[in-house]
Amino acid sequence: MSQSTKTEFADRMLSLGLARVSEAAAIASAKLVGSGDEKAADQAAVNAMREQLNMLDIAGVVVIGEGERDEAPMLFIGEEVGNGTGAGVDIALDPLEGTTLTAKDMPNALTVIAMGPRGSMLHAPDVYMDKLAIGPGYAPGLVDLDMSPAERVKVFAEAKGCAPGDVKVCVLERPRHKELVDELRSVGAALRLITDGDVAGVIHCAEPDITGIDMYMGSGGAPEGVLAAAALKCMGGQIQGRLMFRNDDERGRAAKAGITDLNRKYSRDEMVTADVVFAATGVTDGSILKGVKRVGGFLETETILMRSRSGSVRRMTYRTKDH
Ligand code: FBP
Repeated sequence: MSQSTKTEFADRMLSLGLARVSEAAAIASAKLVGSGDEKAADQAAVNAMREQLNMLDIAGVVVIGEGERDEAPMLFIGEEVGNGTGAGVDIALDPLEGTTLTAKDMPNALTVIAMGPRGSMLHAPDVYMDKLAIGPGYAPGLVDLDMSPAERVKVFAEAKGCAPGDVKVCVLERPRHKELVDELRSVGAALRLITDGDVAGVIHCAEPDITGIDMYMGSGGAPEGVLAAAALKCMGGQIQGRLMFRNDDERGRAAKAGITDLNRKYSRDEMVTADVVFAATGVTDGSILKGVKRVGGFLETETILMRSRSGSVRRMTYRTKDH
């Protein structure tokens, strides 16, 4: 077997392991859907994700995780994961993306994990990132963070061959986005305002026929931006991100992560520089994935498992006994 065939094989086998990791986290946190307890839901996902991850034949390092070592007892940035026997890989994860969505039983809560070779993913500090995403099939650089939101909608509408009013933009509903929302409405764009979960928000752009979303705009967590970039690298589509800093503490976090150009605009392939595997499992029902279901003594999950090398996107239903 040639070296590239061996790598491909290992990559494919490992990707299935990654799906088990996100499934386990979803099943664990699903017990707390509607509980009102965000922390408990997150902790359940973290515990399950870590336990499964440590069974994989990888020598992994968490590069996007639950926080700094002193803030997060488990799955902190720099934590070594896997059983240490296989390939050296970087891991980016969000064991529960949408803790509030889970606690309140609202749509689109996911468990998310991505894996790539060492050095393949931007070590994004825990600050905000300004994000702009569109789905596949458009000219590279069609829209840009340096354009005004109105201009982005206009050029996108022209390329899609529709009126600005037929472009739907997904935005996190936050007071800080008031101006953005006003400007988008002034050109007639339709908005889908979400309360949380911008990894799902960005992924929506990759399947506009199913989700009805064409573009994603606005600021959210930078770690979530890198995870979203990993997803779009597999599904196709463009994302740009620029880190945002509110104070010296946040600038210090960037310095600690080795980031020197604080104004840099990152493209998808600058946030994720090599081929990655991405897995996400629905916790609550959403437009991309069904949530965890109890069906007659069994639990059912739906997972999307993707590899950027092959562009494969696999949706898997998993059923197991409900203990
Ligand atoms: P959690 O998973 O921690 O609940 O984060 C949800 C989320 O909505 C992310 O998807 C998003 O990037 C971020 O929070 C936005 O942050 P903020 O709530 O401060 O606007």
